[in-house]
Amino acid sequence: MVQSELIKSFRSEAELIDSAGEFAQRLRSSACRPLVIGLVGTLGSGKTTWARAMLRGLGYLGRVPSPTYTLLEEYDVGELTLVHLDLYRLSGDAELENLGLRDWLAHPDAWVVIEWPERAPTLASRCDLTLDFVDIGDNARRVTMHGITSAGNGALEHSRQAGFNNAR
Ligand SMILES: Nc1ncnc2c1ncn2[C@@H]1O[C@H](COP(=O)(O)OP(=O)(O)OP(=O)(O)O)[C@@H](O)[C@H]1O
Ligand SMILES: [Mg+2]
Repeated sequence: MVQSELIKSFRSEAELIDSAGEFAQRLRSSACRPLVIGLVGTLGSGKTTWARAMLRGLGYLGRVPSPTYTLLEEYDVGELTLVHLDLYRLSGDAELENLGLRDWLAHPDAWVVIEWPERAPTLASRCDLTLDFVDIGDNARRVTMHGITSAGNGALEHSRQAGFNNAR
């Protein structure tokens, strides 16, 4: 059940990147983990840009490719591992089993960040929070965060400092 909802609009890609980086930094210092974060939105709405900016905010300097074909990429950032998934091309549950995700979901120091979580309903039901991305034109985006579990709602609090406000 969705418990709380925060929203922010971004006028540019740079604004969105700044906010994602700040969110990730605040979240890391809160030791809020493990955490499963669903990124929801149409093609090109900004999900990979957000995930990449979270990694940059955490100090990751390497390449961050979209996991469109590999489905899963892992990044070690200090004590934390960020596991980035894109399930758009997922063929079914069997393929999901082969990704080794079960271990990551049980890992105490992992964030699992999932684009297109709705492609795997069992996994979508594990999300602690979701971010909905909407392209509102002129390079602007509106992002709505929904807290689902108590961990997710705790994480949401850190987005207030990153400029998110109550949706209603
Ligand atoms: N304000 C903005 N925030 C994020 N991206 C923006 C913004 N304005 C323009 N863009 C552009 O929109 C595109 C977003 O692409 P991105 O790969 O992040 O989307 P996606 O949601 O991951 O798509 P997919 O479902 O295909 O994985 C990029 O080309 C980016 O440059
Ligand atoms: Mg993407």
